[in-house]
Amino acid sequence: MNYNKKTVKDIDVKGRKVLLRCDFNVPQDKATGAITDDKRIRAALPTIQYLLDQGAAVIACSHLGKPEPSFDKWAKKQAEKGKDPASLTKEKWEKTLEALCMEPVAKRLGELLGRDVVLAGDVVGPDAQAKAAALQPGEIMLLQNTRFEKGETKNDPELAKAMAGLAGADGVYVSDAFGAVHRAHASTAGVAAYLPAVSGFLIEKELEIMGGALADPKRPLVAILGGSKVSSKIGVINHLLDIADMIIIGGGMAYTFAKAQGGSVGTSLLESDWLDYCNEMIAKAKEKGVKLLLPVDTLCAKEFSAEAEPVLHDTMAIPGDMMGMDIGPKTIEAFSAAIQGAGTVIWNGPMGVFEFANFAGGTRAIAQALAGTDAITIIGGGDSAAAVAQMGFADKMTHISTGGGASLEFLEGKELPGVACLLDQ
Ligand code: 3PG
Repeated sequence: MNYNKKTVKDIDVKGRKVLLRCDFNVPQDKATGAITDDKRIRAALPTIQYLLDQGAAVIACSHLGKPEPSFDKWAKKQAEKGKDPASLTKEKWEKTLEALCMEPVAKRLGELLGRDVVLAGDVVGPDAQAKAAALQPGEIMLLQNTRFEKGETKNDPELAKAMAGLAGADGVYVSDAFGAVHRAHASTAGVAAYLPAVSGFLIEKELEIMGGALADPKRPLVAILGGSKVSSKIGVINHLLDIADMIIIGGGMAYTFAKAQGGSVGTSLLESDWLDYCNEMIAKAKEKGVKLLLPVDTLCAKEFSAEAEPVLHDTMAIPGDMMGMDIGPKTIEAFSAAIQGAGTVIWNGPMGVFEFANFAGGTRAIAQALAGTDAITIIGGGDSAAAVAQMGFADKMTHISTGGGASLEFLEGKELPGVACLLDQ
């Protein structure tokens, strides 16, 4: 895939309306709706500020959460989850949509920019149209949640055309929504058929650093893969075996690897359907000369709980009534030593149940090893990014991706629709 895309610097935006797709899908407090982490809004500021300084009128948009724009589908899904059909009223559905309105985002964005952000009451309806038409150079507005439109996730060309239409005949599309580039939706990809499309600075940086690490890494390239399921990382393991010099496997998925090699894993997370796959990957690593490092010792517990007492066992001999919860000290030592010798480290997925203090040690030790190395360190979004931030190591990393699913698909080598649709350099 070509990552060499035109950016806002390659196009004159002065006096033009720019439809700017951001990833403002921020976490919110369930009870109050308050934004609990505004990192994604901050990450879009350089592009927004640049566009405003250049004299563009910015029509920003984003999805927020996963609203269901059809009442019937919402009611069907709730009923499937076992909810009493009589309780599934239109009022309840509307409340779910209200909870995902863009008000808090517009407010926070306005605070961070130090200027008014006009909020539209719809995405392409009369309010958005009127506000977009009235928007002047140097001003910014925000559309309502793009997923309030049924056509958004279907990449409906009519919706894409209507969104592009907000920017007018001379409009420009800028995407800075790295976290959503793996989605072929109307606002992330479809719209590029109707406007000249370039990237913002965030996408440019993500492509440059992650793309660079995959295409021409400073070697040795060490990939650390964790998280609970082998099944969700198949593509990543497979792709990185073609590129990396060493792959380190930790987290819940290490138990499926241990079982595949004849170990006893007790009640640990196990994906029996993936045992053969694990052996195939072990064979592929041998064939490719890629060193595969697996845990040798494991902190176990009798139950999945924050209070459970940690007991150390060999990873290949976990007792029948115990489950693996974190990597043990010998494993931490081996993994840390491997990190010390690396030129580039890519990390995706925690080493254990880091949400429980008793089982956060492995993930913390890896974060610490990354913080202490001179290697280029790239954190591939999601849980590992959250862990690094929570443990206070964020500013020690070369790059923390703003994409969860997007960075995973990037590491899988998949084509990203939200990048593919942008103009080539
Ligand atoms: C994310 O949070 O990873 C992005 O915003 C994409 O969200 P989605 O998984 O709901 O498409």
